[in-house]
Amino acid sequence: MSEIVIVSGSSNTPLAYMIAKRLNVQPAKVEIRKFPDGEKYIRIDSDVNGKDVFIVQSMHFKPDEYIIEALLLASAARDSGAKSVTLVAPYFAYARQDERFKPGEPISVATIAGLLNTSGINGLITVDVHRHRILDFSSVFKGKWIDVTVMPELAKYATAQGLVNGKTAIVGPDGEAIQWAKLAAESVNVKEYGALQKKRYGDEEVKVSGSLDLKGKNVFIVDDIISTGTTIVEASKLITEGGGRLTGVACAHGLFVNDALFKLYSEGITEVISSDTVPNQTTRVSSAEALSKGILSILK
Ligand code: R5P
Repeated sequence: MSEIVIVSGSSNTPLAYMIAKRLNVQPAKVEIRKFPDGEKYIRIDSDVNGKDVFIVQSMHFKPDEYIIEALLLASAARDSGAKSVTLVAPYFAYARQDERFKPGEPISVATIAGLLNTSGINGLITVDVHRHRILDFSSVFKGKWIDVTVMPELAKYATAQGLVNGKTAIVGPDGEAIQWAKLAAESVNVKEYGALQKKRYGDEEVKVSGSLDLKGKNVFIVDDIISTGTTIVEASKLITEGGGRLTGVACAHGLFVNDALFKLYSEGITEVISSDTVPNQTTRVSSAEALSKGILSILK
């Protein structure tokens, strides 16, 4: 195996450094700044020639800026002779724009994946990436793709906090979230898991329905992303109306845009946990271990 180089973009340097520490390598020296006109300047000031380069860049809050940074870092690594260039994107933006919902729209996730390819990125590692209409990223990204999960870590943390036990039902708020509920449930020996159904009418307008029998049960919700919090609020209402008791909520990526957390707390949803793919005040578990394992396995 050739040498690994970890190059951190500016979106989540603590996570990049944690990964480097786990892999026992020094993070590369990188200069990232803006020109007076707002354009990005980047420079990798470490030797990457002949090495396997991993660019760690989450894409939350300022997705377009962070994507450009990752593309520039990748092409710099490629042009400096890197043996391989892998983008480690703990939170991968644009994944929810995976269909032409109306005529005239692009399939944005395919456009972004294509940009990664043209910038010399030949590997991609994501964490619990949103997969709804595009189930396999390999259909849009030409290279090796690995998706790792933080669902077991979230479930173990929730169990240690007493939010989940053997009798809890772990529920995803929509059909796609059944995969997260399954991963979480199996990691802590919870037998009962399932998913509700969701129909989206607008950015902050969804209807959640479902026929799970949750009467008299303790229920814990898991999802990949919490953005505006609308999905969780509606799922929580349905669970409560059906006689269930919501003990808490976990997500891999806590974007919590605008007043999302306030919305959740106002609904009485106070136990909210997330991972460090998007660092925020509910972050309780790290994706560093899962990502480090992903890095080692993509090299095989
Ligand atoms: C989409 O289906 C995702 O899995 C999440 O459920 C969604 O992104 C949550 O968004 P929001 O918090 O705005 O309802």
